[in-house]
Amino acid sequence: MLSDHVSKLALAIANQIPRISLARLPTPLVPLRRFSKKHNTPTIWLKRDDLTDTAASGNKLRKLEFVLGHALAEGATTIITCGGIQSNHCRATAVVASQLGLKCHLILRGKPTNPADGNLLLDELVGAKITFIDTSMFSNIDQIFTDLANEYRQLGEVPYAIPVGASDEIGLWGYIDAIRELKIDFDTVGIQPKYLFSATGSGGTAGGLILGRQIYGLPTEIYSVNVCDDEAYFINKISDDFSAWRQRYGIEIANDQLPINILDGYVGPGYGKAEPKIFDLIQDLARTEGMILDPVYTAKAFYGMLTELNKGRFTDCEDIIFIHTGGIFGLFPQKEQFTNSSLTQ
Ligand SMILES: Cc1ncc(COP(=O)(O)O)c(C=O)c1O
Repeated sequence: MLSDHVSKLALAIANQIPRISLARLPTPLVPLRRFSKKHNTPTIWLKRDDLTDTAASGNKLRKLEFVLGHALAEGATTIITCGGIQSNHCRATAVVASQLGLKCHLILRGKPTNPADGNLLLDELVGAKITFIDTSMFSNIDQIFTDLANEYRQLGEVPYAIPVGASDEIGLWGYIDAIRELKIDFDTVGIQPKYLFSATGSGGTAGGLILGRQIYGLPTEIYSVNVCDDEAYFINKISDDFSAWRQRYGIEIANDQLPINILDGYVGPGYGKAEPKIFDLIQDLARTEGMILDPVYTAKAFYGMLTELNKGRFTDCEDIIFIHTGGIFGLFPQKEQFTNSSLTQ
């Protein structure tokens, strides 16, 4: 665990950095008792970060409290960010920008659908400007950001660029603070969960949880199920985020105190593409508990956790946590997949 000095320094900085209130916190922590009994697992508790808001819901809102806090402190008038065509992060950013009276420009990877559906529909509804780019152009995203920011500067705006998923050293504070909240949750409901699981797509949720665990001295082990790329990619990405965080805030926490546990092997056919078993799981949880997962992030991660539990891993305890990171709007553009599953049974 950390020295008292490092912990106190991190907590002092956490209380000083710019933050705006966006998410409805604390989110509920609820046990999935029927589902856990049915699947013979330890009690799975869902941390309902899907309830951070309605249209701006999900894990991104925790990060945006800090990232947009920083943007506003810098006088930003236009927010630029990027992601996939059904990006939850872009939708949350666009909705919040509208709430704050800021302009928002999204760079989305993919082709527009007509009519728009899911997150894209909401992006358009709140008036975000959108540039659609090919997957091949995404490798050039830094240059695209720079050019767009220059264009806005020439128009007299103050642009602020947020990287994919708001997963940078500032965004990490969102899930550092979520650990503070979870500690209170655990005390309130009287559990000491051994393991915590969540989906990882750009690494910021995982990185924040890992840092928060050290800063707040939480023994619960953090596992992240990747929904794209692979273990090596996420170890690199999250380690880079840690380095940038250390450098920016001058808080020295060594890498060996920040274990990055990636549960690889559950990406399936690719990012945003899922097999029928994922849609079956969405249906199972919906019918057993009335909880709705999404096919891009949460259902794949939940499936990964459940598969490991069925193999006998992570079963040496009474309680485990799954963070429901949101993403419900990504379900609707994939609705036809349910005709291939057992939805009609
Ligand atoms: C619903 C949902 N869950 C999980 C994640 C993964 O979070 P992160 O990007 O912080 O790894 C994302 C975004 O990528 C998301 O939209």
